Amino acid sequence: MKEYWIKDSSLADRGRKRIAWSETQMPVLMEIRKRFSEEKPLKGVRIGACLHITTDTGVLMRALAAGGAELYLCASNPLSTQDDVTAALVEEGVHVYGFRGQTEEEYYRCLGYVIASEPMITMDDGADLISAIHKLRYGIRTKELDYLKDIVEGIDFEKMVDGIIGGSEETTTGVIRLKALAREGKLLYPVIAVNDAESKRLFDNPIGTGQSALDGIIRATNTLLAGRDAVVVGFGNVGSGIAHRLRGMGARVTVVEVDPIKALKAVMDGFNVEPMSKAARHGDLFITATGDINVIRREHFEVMKDGAILANAGHFNVEISIKDLEEISTRKERISDCITTYILRDGRRLYLLAEGRLVNLACAEGHPSEVMDMSFSLQALSAKYLVENRGKLPRDVLMVPAEIDREVASLKLKAMGIEIEKLTDEQRRYLSSWTLGT
Ligand SMILES: NC(=O)c1ccc[n+]([C@@H]2O[C@H](COP(=O)([O-])OP(=O)(O)OC[C@H]3O[C@@H](n4cnc5c(N)ncnc54)[C@H](O)[C@@H]3O)[C@@H](O)[C@H]2O)c1
Repeated sequence: MKEYWIKDSSLADRGRKRIAWSETQMPVLMEIRKRFSEEKPLKGVRIGACLHITTDTGVLMRALAAGGAELYLCASNPLSTQDDVTAALVEEGVHVYGFRGQTEEEYYRCLGYVIASEPMITMDDGADLISAIHKLRYGIRTKELDYLKDIVEGIDFEKMVDGIIGGSEETTTGVIRLKALAREGKLLYPVIAVNDAESKRLFDNPIGTGQSALDGIIRATNTLLAGRDAVVVGFGNVGSGIAHRLRGMGARVTVVEVDPIKALKAVMDGFNVEPMSKAARHGDLFITATGDINVIRREHFEVMKDGAILANAGHFNVEISIKDLEEISTRKERISDCITTYILRDGRRLYLLAEGRLVNLACAEGHPSEVMDMSFSLQALSAKYLVENRGKLPRDVLMVPAEIDREVASLKLKAMGIEIEKLTDEQRRYLSSWTLGT
């Protein structure tokens, strides 16, 4: 078993400094870390995490370690790892398996090392770790799992799963996958949907991705957003945040949606709403945020303007059909770290950012730490909750307990120096009564 697998240990100093900067932006998680160092709620607990390895994740790892956990961490995306962070964490005793630019095989082998640690809690961003554990336990063979089979050889998966206290999931796509597993009655342990907590979903998804997706696009292309004809596909938590921020930067924004309620919301927020077949004809910049597959595909590429830019903010690289793009192109050229130009038969060029992967993490640094402060505080407190309730929770996808959700929001407000109004006793009585009226 490898102790770690990273790109370059000599980057540790830079990683340490950058994690230290994030710590200054994550007061809630730092408060939790302080409590964890005193209480040691995770003493002796092996946590296997599959997360984007950024500086914020570094701060989370330090908080979990302060709580007494033993940590095994792999990347949740082949392109999002910050190699200096991995080096710093390895020096601090975290078993890290990940580096930027992994092949598919390397990605799954890294996942294999985390599984081989036989984690007692799993922490996912996209559900790759938990889904691999379930497939191995159910004896389902896939090409991806073949990559790691020698690493996990000899493990008794039934016994291993029995030892798992629970898991947590960071993102919408992961929660969708887990709910499908639970619906089939196959989920083997309780999993907390951190994504669905209010203090995550209402901030991380729209505000964090809203800013960081544009950051990624700007860093990759240095393009001017003002006056741009921008098309946002999906007007959910993430897409609505991106659309509003694009408009704030002066872009002319069209929204593409399949859900009539979300589409109506977009219309009443003042956006132009169209089907993709129309939007494809005029957009200069396309950003997908649906968690769905092939939302931009051949028929759309065929009518796009020369020079259109394509970016994805959804979890997997499936929203923009790369297969179709490859098939209709005569050649492609990597023109920078983040841009691939596809040259179509008629000479038009389409620019794909980050190989269709999460543009905010692959071309920038992911969400600002201030936002991850809440998401990762929820992760840390959810791990503590799972341990405290070991054996008592159902094998289902569970909400973050409301007290934890509200505590994270309250701690964030306190850290921001913002006081809020409190209900009087009279108001509390009034709001919980059905007898009072006009
Ligand atoms: N980049 C990041 O850092 C980051 C952060 C959070 C979430 N995510 C990911 O972003 C994706 C979206 O998350 P969300 O929280 O906004 O989910 P959501 O469910 O709130 O929104 C998705 C929206 O896409 C719409 N949609 C689905 N198929 C469509 C199609 N073919 N055309 C147009 N619209 C379509 C849905 O109706 C829905 O309104 C997920 O994959 C999630 O995991 C990424």
